[in-house]
Amino acid sequence: MAHTAVVTGGSGGIGRATVEELAEDHDVVVHYFSDEAGAEAAVEAATDAGSEAIAVQADVSDRESVADLFAEARSVFGGVDTLINNAAAPPESGFESRSAESIDRMVRVNVNGVMYCAQEVVEGMTDRGYGRIVNVASTAGLHGSPSDPVYGATKAAVAGFTRSLAKAYTADGILTNAVAPSVTDTPLLSKQRREEAAELFPQNRIADPSEVADAIRFLVSNSYDSGKVIEIAGGRYL
Ligand SMILES: NC(=O)c1ccc[n+]([C@@H]2O[C@H](COP(=O)([O-])OP(=O)(O)OC[C@H]3O[C@@H](n4cnc5c(N)ncnc54)[C@H](OP(=O)(O)O)[C@@H]3O)[C@@H](O)[C@H]2O)c1
Repeated sequence: MAHTAVVTGGSGGIGRATVEELAEDHDVVVHYFSDEAGAEAAVEAATDAGSEAIAVQADVSDRESVADLFAEARSVFGGVDTLINNAAAPPESGFESRSAESIDRMVRVNVNGVMYCAQEVVEGMTDRGYGRIVNVASTAGLHGSPSDPVYGATKAAVAGFTRSLAKAYTADGILTNAVAPSVTDTPLLSKQRREEAAELFPQNRIADPSEVADAIRFLVSNSYDSGKVIEIAGGRYL
């Protein structure tokens, strides 16, 4: 029987590439927040690859909304074997004038959301003695993010949470790891940022979402390691 994966933010970018990657051997719950059309397109791609897939809307910063998302996943597929915590609010400029609401919202989406989703799956994974959790952090959380220190802090929290969750649950069969991409070619980036950023990398290009999804696939297929945060940065930080 195919494993079941929940991919948060599966409606576009890295999440969409991950849905396509996992559809080869997973049934997939494509979570989305606002982009219903993107989620339906991801479902179609997963179905074409032979997976059973559904799209489910939720706000990951809202605990009840997250509970509803996983209740739907369990009712359709019976359980969740693989969680990809990919959804996040994008970086914002203007730290000095940032409102308290804007900071709270980013922390709730990027940190609380990852924790709420993990809370929903650990019991079932522990019962089955099998689980894979891959969190999407960022090099912004490992090396700092001068353009948005709040975003950088939330991604550092995701890396720390990954290690703590691994310490707490690896003995139960749940392997928790993270990827930390650097600049990746998703709709989140402006054309100007894409061109400027390319020069930062030895290969003179930013990552393709499929290259991040490859690393996520590796961590999902992995049967031993836990607590790793793998940078996908094209040699930028060597
Ligand atoms: N692109 C990069 O350069 C880069 C670099 C390092 C790390 N990352 C990380 O990679 C992950 C994917 O980003 P991406 O570049 O692929 O951008 P993206 O396409 O904008 O993905 C972000 C996803 O998060 C979802 N989302 C936003 N707010 C949400 C909320 N309140 N509740 C639930 N979902 C919410 C969005 O859903 P809807 O579209 O449906 O609203 C979207 O699918 C993020 O964790 C990001 O921080 C990206």
